[in-house]
Amino acid sequence: MTAIRLALSLGIATAALVVPASAAAGDIDRGRYLVNSVMACGNCHTAKDSEARPIRSRHLAGGGVVWDVPPFAGMAPNITPDRDTGIGRWSDEEIRRALTQGERPAHRGLAGVPLGAPMPVNLYKALTRADQDAIVAYLRSVPAVRNPVAAATRRAPVKRALYPDAERAYGAADLQDPVRRGAYLAALAHCMECHTPSSPQGSLYGTAMGLGGKAFAPPAITGFPEWWKGTVSRNITPHPEFGIGRWSDAEVKRAIREGVSRDGRRLSPPMPFESYAEMTEADLDALVAWLRSLPPRP
Ligand code: HEC
Ligand code: HEC
Repeated sequence: MTAIRLALSLGIATAALVVPASAAAGDIDRGRYLVNSVMACGNCHTAKDSEARPIRSRHLAGGGVVWDVPPFAGMAPNITPDRDTGIGRWSDEEIRRALTQGERPAHRGLAGVPLGAPMPVNLYKALTRADQDAIVAYLRSVPAVRNPVAAATRRAPVKRALYPDAERAYGAADLQDPVRRGAYLAALAHCMECHTPSSPQGSLYGTAMGLGGKAFAPPAITGFPEWWKGTVSRNITPHPEFGIGRWSDAEVKRAIREGVSRDGRRLSPPMPFESYAEMTEADLDALVAWLRSLPPRP
């Protein structure tokens, strides 16, 4: 605003200051932090190297994880700004609707077909408007990579269970409270999507949130290196015996950020600790405070 007034007073044509709405609206640094760290989009949308680390030159270009589960067979698409194989032609509103509603624009060629179950839009409903804009701004700033990704096969209608901490977008006041902020970060980081067992109707958030026991293994999930034979998520409720109740805050944070369990064991994919590594100390503290507020479940 001040820049525009200054420009006017200097007699500079304001047209020169009209940057595309997409670039002006969102905070790119905040978007980079959310996409690459907290939300770990690349865990699904970026191809991996032989160490299961995302390949930089393929950042967000699709084909990271491949699912072959009863409702869905295929992989995460290219979400770089490439106009033909990515989301370069999508409007800001179309990207926001995909993220928070799971809707695809008509010009995508799959009009009316909701995004497949692996894309955690039920949790992304929590996103504040400012964070949606930040994500859009950052996605527009990454290098466009040409990489056509074959459309997925949908074998059944998409079913997503309502996530109790993401029934609506959060507001600024929510984010002031440490535990609410932790709940917000956990929704965005989709911790409970992996750490909650599911039925054909979706994850059992109401009765088994954080209980772990969800299996990830080929052939249902591939796209990881040969050495990866699969794993099972753990109980991360505050249960003293079966969960993280006796872990110190530092031990929980080390697991999230460094992928090391309490006993020193290395955690394996798909736990996205490589992304979470960049999370700020304050955000990790909020996340741990929220985890400790959950009902302990054996
Ligand atoms: C757990 C895996 C997973 C995560 C995490 C994930 N996505 Fe997705 N995403 C998918 C899958 C799978 C699809 C495709 C679904 C389909 O084809 O129906 C998808 C689709 C999309 C689409 C629609 C693209 C198109 O061409 O139709 C966009 C946009 C998108 N994701 C953006 C994001 C962003 C931004 C993030 C992080 C904030 C993210 N996704 C995190 C798995 C994921
Ligand atoms: C894409 C799936 C996925 C996501 C997202 C995910 N995890 Fe995990 N997590 C796993 C799996 C699988 C394991 C077990 C890995 C192993 O044992 O090799 C694990 C392990 C852990 C452990 C170690 C538990 C133990 O007993 O060793 C903790 C703590 C943990 N996750 C917390 C979190 C938190 C907090 C979040 C969100 C910030 C999160 N996870 C997000 C899949 C996931």
